[in-house]
Parts: sequence; structure tokens; C-alpha cells
Amino acid sequence: MSKLIAPSILAADFANLQRDVEMVNRSDADWFHIDIMDGVFVPNISFGMPVLRDIAKHATKTIDTHLMIVDPDRYVKTFAELGCDVLTVHYEACTHLHRTLQLIKSHGMKAGVALNPHTSVHLLSDVIQDIDLVCLMSVNPGFGGQQFIENTYDKITQLKKIIGAKNTDTLIEIDGGVTDKNAVQLIEAGADVLVAGSYVFKATDQEATIAHLKTLVNP
Ligand code: DX5
Ligand code: ZN
Repeated sequence: MSKLIAPSILAADFANLQRDVEMVNRSDADWFHIDIMDGVFVPNISFGMPVLRDIAKHATKTIDTHLMIVDPDRYVKTFAELGCDVLTVHYEACTHLHRTLQLIKSHGMKAGVALNPHTSVHLLSDVIQDIDLVCLMSVNPGFGGQQFIENTYDKITQLKKIIGAKNTDTLIEIDGGVTDKNAVQLIEAGADVLVAGSYVFKATDQEATIAHLKTLVNP
């Protein structure tokens, strides 16, 4: 399977959101990565349902939504109705993770689990067969534009072994500080999906930057 690029809309220009969504539509990107923050699970608030609804109105690609919120079960149905294709919850925010994953799937979405940088991938061993995507946070969640945490490579290697042992087709997504400097090494370690916010949206030619990243990881 080809390796996927998911621009993070958190770094877009919110005053020109339709323009930026259409840029991603035209580009070689595969997914939209949408960061929802509640100001409780993470020390920041991004945007909520009305903004996601308008993004979904224009987006023509898979909508990969990353919930950085406490007790995400409350909103699973709503996110399904808003058009999310992949819904990722944080391991650290779910008391009954297995139940949450079943709930996401019962609403027709792929189920993802995100891990903070300090959370061991081994905590997913007993539930990996129920997870469509593991999002390894390579920065502390809450903000774009932070520096990539190098320990992520080891986590990918370990997670790859857990996925292999259970023979599941779980995807590994990397989120935070992704650039052309670490993309190839992340893929070589075993990543399938790279989220990129600042690297894409701060570029002068955003479409060309996405194309460059896509070619780098699919030589
Ligand atoms: C951080 C978010 C990321 C963020 C990545 O909490 O989950 O998706 O947008 O941004 P960059 O690529 O700028 O690190
Ligand atoms: Zn994210």
C-alpha cells in the first residue's frame, strides 16, 4: 500500500478555510487531518462541530479526525454524522477503550487510538486487533509547530512488532513535527500515514510541498 500524507488543518488559515481545503483536494495529499481540542485534555482549544461541518462540505478526501478531548464517547455519533471517516481517541482519555472502539465502528467509522509521547505502545497489545489506526504523537498534543520527539522511531519499531504478532492490518500514523527531514526515516521504521501541519501550511508553495513529501515517502 502506498504511504499516506495527511495535512493537518490546524495549521491552515482559518479566515481562508475553503481555499485551504480546496488546495488539499487538488494536491497529492491522501487525507484531511482534523484536530479537535477541548481545553481540558490538552491546554488548547482548536475548533468544534460547526467548523468541521463546513470543512466536510468542501473536502473530497478521507476525513481523519483526532479527538483531543475527555470522555469522547459523548460525541462519537455526532462526529459520524458530520462525515468523519476515521475517528481517533486518546488512550489516556478512555476508561473503557475497547467499548469506545466498538462504538466508533458501530457508527461506520474506522477506529483510531492516539498515544501521548510518554504512553507505551505495549498498553495496546490486548486491543490491537480492534484498532484500525494507531496515532503515535511525536509531540505533546495541543499545538502545531513543535519539535519532533526522536524516541518516536523506537515506538514505531515496537508497535510494528505488536501488529505483526497479532497479524492485524492496523495502520501507524505519526503526528507532530513531521517534515522532509524525518519523513523517510519514519516510513523506514514502519509508519503508514504522516500528518504534517506547519511544514505544509507555512510553505510558500503548499501543493508542491505536499507533492514533495508524497514522492519522498513513495520512491
Ligand atoms: C497536535 C496535533 C497535530 C498538529 C501537527 O496536537 O495533533 O496534528 O496539527 O502540527 P505540526 O505538523 O505543525 O507539528
Ligand atoms: Zn493531530
